[in-house]
Amino acid sequence: MTRTIAHPANADIASALTEARADFVKRNPKSQKLHEDACGSLPGGNTRTVLFYGPFPVTMVKGQGANLWDADGKKYIDFLGEYTAGIYGHSHPVIRKAIDRALDDGINRGAHNQMEGKLAALICARFPTIELVRFTNSGTEANLMAITLARAFTGRKKVMVFDGGYHGGIFTFHDGNSPVNGPFDFVIAPYNDAEGTRKLIAEAGKDLAVVAVEPMQGGIGCIAADASFLRVLREETQKIGALLLFDEVMTSRLSPGGMQAVLGITPDLTTLGKYIGGGMSFGAFGGRADIMSRFDPRRADALPHAGTFNNNILTMSAGVVGLERLYTPEAAVKLNAFGDRLRDRLNAATRDKGLNMQFTGIGSMICVHFVKGVIKSAKDAKKANKDLGELFFLDLLARGIYIARRGMMALSLPLTEADGDQLVAAVEEFVSSRKRLLQ
Ligand SMILES: Cc1ncc(COP(=O)(O)O)c(C=O)c1O
Repeated sequence: MTRTIAHPANADIASALTEARADFVKRNPKSQKLHEDACGSLPGGNTRTVLFYGPFPVTMVKGQGANLWDADGKKYIDFLGEYTAGIYGHSHPVIRKAIDRALDDGINRGAHNQMEGKLAALICARFPTIELVRFTNSGTEANLMAITLARAFTGRKKVMVFDGGYHGGIFTFHDGNSPVNGPFDFVIAPYNDAEGTRKLIAEAGKDLAVVAVEPMQGGIGCIAADASFLRVLREETQKIGALLLFDEVMTSRLSPGGMQAVLGITPDLTTLGKYIGGGMSFGAFGGRADIMSRFDPRRADALPHAGTFNNNILTMSAGVVGLERLYTPEAAVKLNAFGDRLRDRLNAATRDKGLNMQFTGIGSMICVHFVKGVIKSAKDAKKANKDLGELFFLDLLARGIYIARRGMMALSLPLTEADGDQLVAAVEEFVSSRKRLLQ
């Protein structure tokens, strides 16, 4: 699997990158052609921004277990795991059988089906603060519904989010408020800054409907929240009657009961997504029964919640077998322990050697950063050397390891210890071949 990189030009980062990009172009003619063709009908040949990178993105044509194959026939170990949605790997036989069974019995039935209540019950049993839950088609939509529900429930307008946060395509706060964000009255607070946030919550006071927070910010680089910071959010929201929303779209995988179970903090609402739909399109929002029951259609004052595919049978069926048979509480503990061990080994090869390179995260979510020092916020993460990030990504691709262009990894169940060894070996090779650039 590991490929040797011929004569890396390490005079400086710029020449190393020029060489790595040229090598990438040479190795990927079919991906290049597919990209150029797609540019005729998709802006930049792309329909999901996070997947784009230069010179052009690799097109993956096949996945099996923990492996991917690109259009030019190269095989990779998949350490990206579809940004946490791919926890079951590619075409897991149990998931596949559940989907086949659903297909046998007809999809798009336009009715309640026998699986939605089952998946809801599994979710309520697993996540301690979710008393009632509703399904959506994506994590973005789950957050949209949860935030609008919080505003309707409290009769207030302001929505507090955090610098570096990401709650979906219309809730992006990596660089302040994005022009494509939803038209909400956002207050952007500093992540992991308890006193700064306490002040902003007090200032917003009775106008504040909800504080939405990721227990670990995923998009900006797996930056974990301090438990004490999250406890302050709980206390302060309670004081002023605002709701606390944990966005666990990614972090729900980090223990059998998500980060809320690890932290012992009770949010009013939680959003979920990614792997819980068994790899199909999925989102969910849930929480306190008195809040969620506003959607109970038996009530005269019920709020509506629409969505043609909310209970689609493919997602519901795959989700049920996934939670029931594959990502069991024991499997969650095991996968996250694997991630913790792997991160320690990666940091032993980099950060602990005093290099300008480190790996953050919790359990099965890992992210590389080319910066020294503790990373507690987007501000810290933005000090990283971006060119080294690109070089690392291209070098790993050349060695048959697939991660996110931004450096994120999310482990999946079919990954083996030997796959982990391959990743560590690839990082060690990167360090030895690029050492001068990492000082
Ligand atoms: C924390 C968080 N919230 C929400 C979302 C949005 O989910 P989706 O891509 O399913 O819309 C994501 C996606 O990466 C996420 O990481």
